[in-house]
Amino acid sequence: MAATVGRICGARLLKNYGLVGPQVCQLSTNAQGWTKSRKLLLSTLGVIGGGAGALLFALEQSVDASGTEAHPYHQPWSHNGWFQSLDHASVRRGYEVYKQVCKACHSLQYVAFRNLVNVTHTEAEAKAEAAEVMIKDGPDEEGNYFERPGKLSDYFPSPYPNENAARAANNGAYPPDLSLIVLGRKGGEDYIFSLLTGYTDPPAGVALREGQNYNPYFPGGAIAMAQVLFDEAAEYSDGTPATASQLAKDVSTFLRWCSEPELDDRRLMTIKAIGIFSTLAAIVYYYKRHKWSSLKSRKLAYKPVSKK
Ligand code: HEC
Ligand SMILES: *[C@@H]1O[C@H](CO)[C@@H](O)[C@H](O)[C@H]1NC(C)=O
Repeated sequence: MAATVGRICGARLLKNYGLVGPQVCQLSTNAQGWTKSRKLLLSTLGVIGGGAGALLFALEQSVDASGTEAHPYHQPWSHNGWFQSLDHASVRRGYEVYKQVCKACHSLQYVAFRNLVNVTHTEAEAKAEAAEVMIKDGPDEEGNYFERPGKLSDYFPSPYPNENAARAANNGAYPPDLSLIVLGRKGGEDYIFSLLTGYTDPPAGVALREGQNYNPYFPGGAIAMAQVLFDEAAEYSDGTPATASQLAKDVSTFLRWCSEPELDDRRLMTIKAIGIFSTLAAIVYYYKRHKWSSLKSRKLAYKPVSKK
């Protein structure tokens, strides 16, 4: 890349263009000395690139405006913003909601019990959580598969053995894995929250098939998942009143953490990086001024030698 750019413009840097007036050499990529074909080529490339970008932007926007679904309202999450961490009490409550409600249908196959340690639970608590589930393991010495209580290193078990079983139990619809759902859906946790709290009666003229429910936030409006979050649909160990919106908020925060467990570390790194790079930038700026000071304050004068 650099070599190509150098070949196109490099030869012109520092080149002398006919010595017109005081403009002796051009320290720039000024197009003055380019051949016609090069100018044409670069303008064509520019126009094509710009056009492609504009087209992509326009397509994205128009799809946004003409979709069949309602746009989720942007919620004031406590982890919004560059320097905010996740609300870990909320993540813990969200885990409780997943465990008591969503786990019946949705897998969370990329999250392991060890991931909970020091995030939502202590190590002992996480071990107890793991021990509550049975994990299929094996083969043992006789070649048989067996079930054993979970360990910290186990991943969350899936409610169904395979996709066909999941579909058979849900009217043909597949409850997707929730590990990455926040990153996998437009709107992220805003969408999850709106979806879980947005169930309504279908408007006039919308006919739903057997087993479908109406949710304006779901593309198309007809979703196979029924409303699952009602007041007191789950129980919190910390005594927080379990209203439907509280449950939805906590499970959305929990799913955000599942999708992006490194979020807190990343935010911490942002603070460090801004600190380090702004200090470095200040030093570099000072050093640059220092190095150029003698050049910039220099005055060149032509002093003719006087003829005697
Ligand atoms: C009774 C089973 C069941 C339960 C319980 C359940 N779901 Fe679902 N869920 C489904 C099914 C089935 C679908 C697929 C819907 C479809 O494709 O029409 C689904 C789809 C979803 C989707 C994806 C929507 C999309 O955009 O594709 C999300 C997110 C979701 N569920 C979240 C949850 C959460 C969070 C909970 C717990 C609070 C939960 N579900 C509880 C059955 C369930
Ligand atoms: C969790 O935190 C405790 C106390 O700070 C620490 O001793 C332990 O190593 C941590 N565990 C993990 C898995 O990070």
